Amino acid sequence: MRVTDLFCGAGLFSAGFSAADFEIVQAVELDREAVKSYSRNVSPNVVQGSVTAHKPVETDVLIAGPPCQGFSTLGRMDPTDARNNLSLEVLRWAKDSDAKVVVIENVPPFLRSPQWALLTRRLRRLGYGIETWELNAYDFGTPQLRRRAFTVASKVGVIGRPAETGPGKTAGQAISDLAGLDAGDDALHVWPEPRGVAAERIALVPPCGDKRDIIRLAPDLCPPSWIKMGCQATDVWGRMDPNAPANTLRCTFQNPSKGRYLHPTLNRTLSLREGARLQGIPDSWQMSGRGYPVARQIGNGVPVPLAAAVARQVAAALH
Ligand SMILES: C[S@@+](CC[C@H](N)C(=O)[O-])C[C@H]1O[C@@H](n2cnc3c(N)ncnc32)[C@H](O)[C@@H]1O
Repeated sequence: MRVTDLFCGAGLFSAGFSAADFEIVQAVELDREAVKSYSRNVSPNVVQGSVTAHKPVETDVLIAGPPCQGFSTLGRMDPTDARNNLSLEVLRWAKDSDAKVVVIENVPPFLRSPQWALLTRRLRRLGYGIETWELNAYDFGTPQLRRRAFTVASKVGVIGRPAETGPGKTAGQAISDLAGLDAGDDALHVWPEPRGVAAERIALVPPCGDKRDIIRLAPDLCPPSWIKMGCQATDVWGRMDPNAPANTLRCTFQNPSKGRYLHPTLNRTLSLREGARLQGIPDSWQMSGRGYPVARQIGNGVPVPLAAAVARQVAAALH
């Protein structure tokens, strides 16, 4: 069974299909470093460039994870974001590659966008039946709460929604063995060392605490706006609960002001390896690039155990 991956990133979605015995025949990604990571960890059959500029080869299954910034409730939800229309490129690829099944992954609000309505109307015209699955990666063995929407277009009949395989580990179970390693012991076990006021604030956050504790314990370390506005988002500058799954990992997971991303017991944010663990990425993977561009490759992806569960359903329908 052949699979083509559009907007393939570092290849987490593809890795799920590889695990379900698909052969990757083509993958396309704009970001150079992500392409190098993909080539190293997943398959050499990846090209760098825009999906708008490449030609499809014949395939059985087309998978795609178009950019979600314009649809995500964590982004600006900008209906005029030019990236929103990239999802429509899938139509040309579906037609020209002769794919029997198309699977598009995105954030759940994508299903309520005008792009989704247009895309599925045109896919139906091409002869596909459409189903949608909203799945939480935690129910498929990922140590993270992450809801994602899959639009499944099929010419081989209805593809059954994947049955939950069981909850993932807690964040503590997933990453605690890495706490004793020094930075750089593994090339991905690195984090931005907190300095100055940021270091002082982080040291104050108690287990499972967050920005509210910093405001309470040390108003002198807070800018006037924090005191004036109080804490609207309860996750920011938050320390992860080791006894629960992680919250949704964003590309900015190494920035404490973006969510509950402080290590459960250490005074730092997550390392890139810890972020990778929370996405179900095997420890054998190394990524190309440094810092935020690598965090983006990790945080952008479909958790590998969830991708594999989706891939197994598609494989069963093709057999
Ligand atoms: C949500 S991420 C995909 C993650 C991937 N499915 C995975 O599981 O690892 C979207 C990707 O689309 C890429 N991208 C954005 N515009 C693109 C374009 N015009 N052509 C190809 N890739 C593009 C971004 O660089 C980003 O890596």
